[in-house]
Amino acid sequence: MRTVPRTIKHPDWAVTGIPKAEQRLSRTKIDILDAKGQDAMRKVCRLAREVLDITAAEIKPGVTTDYLDELCHKACVERESYPSPLNYNHFPKSLCTSVNEVVCHGIPDQRILLDGDIINLDISLYHGGYHADVNETYYVGDRAKADPDSVKVIETTRECLDKAIEIVKPGTPIREFGRVIEKHAKSRNLKVVATWGGHGINTEFHPPPWIPHYSKNKAVGVCKAGMTFTIEPILALGSSREIYWPDDWTNVTGDGKRTAQFEHTLLVTETGVEVLTARNENSPGGPVVLSTSTTDGTAEAA
Ligand code: MF3
Ligand code: CO
Repeated sequence: MRTVPRTIKHPDWAVTGIPKAEQRLSRTKIDILDAKGQDAMRKVCRLAREVLDITAAEIKPGVTTDYLDELCHKACVERESYPSPLNYNHFPKSLCTSVNEVVCHGIPDQRILLDGDIINLDISLYHGGYHADVNETYYVGDRAKADPDSVKVIETTRECLDKAIEIVKPGTPIREFGRVIEKHAKSRNLKVVATWGGHGINTEFHPPPWIPHYSKNKAVGVCKAGMTFTIEPILALGSSREIYWPDDWTNVTGDGKRTAQFEHTLLVTETGVEVLTARNENSPGGPVVLSTSTTDGTAEAA
C-alpha cells in the first residue's frame, strides 16, 4: 500500500481497514450542512476534480492502471488530501480503475491499457474533514475510432447522470432519480446495474441516503437545501448480472459485455443544485457525438 504523510488527516479506516464511524451511522438521518460545511465540500470537490483531470490526462495505450494509481495518489498528497479508497474495507489502492467489462471497484495493477479499451476512473478525496467522490468513463486511444457499442453505453450513461442532476432541487423525492435514469437507459436498450447506488457524502464517505438508479425504487426522503450526495449510474450493454473476481472487489459482467459509469458530488441549494465536481473547459474526456442509428434505440450495423 502507498503511504500518506502523517501530517495529512486520515479517515478512521486508514489504520484498521474498517470504517467504524460510518458503520455506526443511523440509516435514515440525512445531514444538512451549514455554510461552513458547504464551503468545505466545495473545496474538497474542487481538489477531487483536479486530481481526476490530472490522472485522466495520462490515459493512453501502453500505460498501466497502477501508473494511474500512482499519479492519483501523488496528486492527492500534493493537495494535503487522503485518497479515501485507500484501505477502505481493506481496498488496497488509492483509485478504482474499471476497464471494459469491469462494472466498478477494479483494483489498479500491471494491466496495460490498449487502444479501444474504455476505463472508468473513480476518485475520492478526504480533505479538511470532508469527502469528495467523482468518476468518469474515458475512451483509450483515438475516440473518433471508438466502437459504436462503447460510444452508446458511455454517452448514454453520461446523459443519464445529467438528466438526474436536472431534477435536483428542494422537494424532489430521492426515488425520482432512478426513474429518470432507467427511462433514458431503456430508450437505448441498456440495462441499469441495480447493485450499486449513489450515497450521501460529507464528513463520512457513504452516509445516508442510499440512492437507487432504477425505477420503482422505494427510497425514502426528499432533497433539502444543504444536503450533499452523489448520483453515479452504471449502465450495461448486455445483462446486468455480475460476477466477483477472487480479489473480492472487482465485479465484472457475467456476459463479458461493457459497462460505463459517471458520478458527481452534488449540493442541493435553495433553488436547485450545485455540481461540486463539475468539469471545466480543460477537463480531459467529455462527450462524443452519438450516431443517429444509436439514438433511435435500434442496434447499429456492425
Ligand atoms: N468511489 C466509490 C463510490 O463511488 C467507492 C470506492 S470505495 C473503494 O462510492 F474501496 F472501493 F475504493
Ligand atoms: Co460514490
